Amino acid sequence: MTLQEIVPWGRTLEEYIRMFALTEKDLTRKTLGVGDGPASFNAEVTARGGQVISIDPVYAFSAQEIEQRVQQTYLTVVDQIRLTADGYRWDQFKDADELGQYRLTAIKRFLSDYPTGKQQGRYLANQLPTLPFGERSFDLSVCSHLLFLYSKHLSLQLHYDSIKELLRVSNEVRIFPLQTLEGEQSPYLESIIKKLTDESIQVDRVPVAYEFQRGANQMLRIQFGD
Ligand SMILES: C[S@@+](CC[C@H](N)C(=O)[O-])C[C@H]1O[C@@H](n2cnc3c(N)ncnc32)[C@H](O)[C@@H]1O
Repeated sequence: MTLQEIVPWGRTLEEYIRMFALTEKDLTRKTLGVGDGPASFNAEVTARGGQVISIDPVYAFSAQEIEQRVQQTYLTVVDQIRLTADGYRWDQFKDADELGQYRLTAIKRFLSDYPTGKQQGRYLANQLPTLPFGERSFDLSVCSHLLFLYSKHLSLQLHYDSIKELLRVSNEVRIFPLQTLEGEQSPYLESIIKKLTDESIQVDRVPVAYEFQRGANQMLRIQFGD
């Protein structure tokens, strides 16, 4: 991955809580944040005393490089959201600028934690579908705005292999959203659910209290059945 391919855009703990229906108990579980990018999830959970390891190929770059890339791409991203505003629900944010400022706050929180977090091994430059962790290293994996969202860019096989890998390293996997960037349900969703269910893996579509992209208000919860 080169820096020019990256458009850093990060969400907050408050958003992760709603996207993944995280309870207070969940926030004490050993968690893998998959494709966390410049989200402030890891920084905020760590500040509360929780345990999160985030993986993302972007962590191959320094804080300064990521910050420069934010400055290069910020206005383009906000303009793009303004142009496609009808595809989003504007209950939480007044407009694209307010959303952009909220995202910047999350990214700044991430950037201030990143150097220490990297030293502590909380931000690792790895990527799906292969992870450098032993079996059941985590209680929970959460994957926000990567799998299913980028169905046009990532194959069905990559989705299947990634989910199986996440199930190898964690007891439970939660993925949000189930829609693509184009606002449709991912074309892979039904076949992934069927393949996993056929392997006696428990898969549930869970309604959540988060909807920004219109219609994207469910997560997938995946775990081994009893
Ligand atoms: C849209 S961002 C989402 C960031 C964060 N999860 C959030 O919701 O705020 C998608 C992230 O996935 C990362 N990514 C891309 N391919 C990946 C892969 N194969 N494995 C892990 N992360 C990947 C990107 O670098 C980027 O940071």
